[in-house]
Amino acid sequence: MHGILEKLKKDHRNLERILGLLSIQLDHFFAGRESDFDLKCELLEYLESYADQGHHPLEELIYQTALPRFGEKGELLERLQEQHQRLIQATRQFRQSLQNVLQGGVMTRDELEVEGREYIALQRLHIDLEESEVFPLLDEVLTEKEWKQIAAGMPQQVDPVFERPDQVRFRHLVEYLAHAEEAAGQ
Ligand SMILES: [Fe+2]
Repeated sequence: MHGILEKLKKDHRNLERILGLLSIQLDHFFAGRESDFDLKCELLEYLESYADQGHHPLEELIYQTALPRFGEKGELLERLQEQHQRLIQATRQFRQSLQNVLQGGVMTRDELEVEGREYIALQRLHIDLEESEVFPLLDEVLTEKEWKQIAAGMPQQVDPVFERPDQVRFRHLVEYLAHAEEAAGQ
């Protein structure tokens, strides 16, 4: 598989980790247990800043390049691009809802729970569709020349948590992941 697709798959593994953490945080929150507000905010901030502004734009560049080669299956690429738009809106919406509930706003915890679970499910379904159906096809149809064009136009976004950890902006998240790794290694 082409190196750029490998990179996207690595992003997906990291995203799944973030979604897993978000899911655990929601479990705590809805069970009435203490949950980490700063961590939840940083998880959403990561999703907004890296997934929506770095990872998805790179995928879209690839999908646009591949569209003429996909024939009937072009519908799949269009569907994924629509899902990106929905995910961007859903991330923003969920972050606002979370803040609303935590600040004692009008939204109920039940409504927030439905929104949060749906959001996580939507992200996971999207990743699954890309990896199971679309990435193998991209690898088949795109030529080396096209990959070079994609590489030249790639957004130069560095992952601020997994690649070059920003200890200030993502302090709680980076610490949490470091402890989780330490615990796994013991
Ligand atoms: Fe993706």
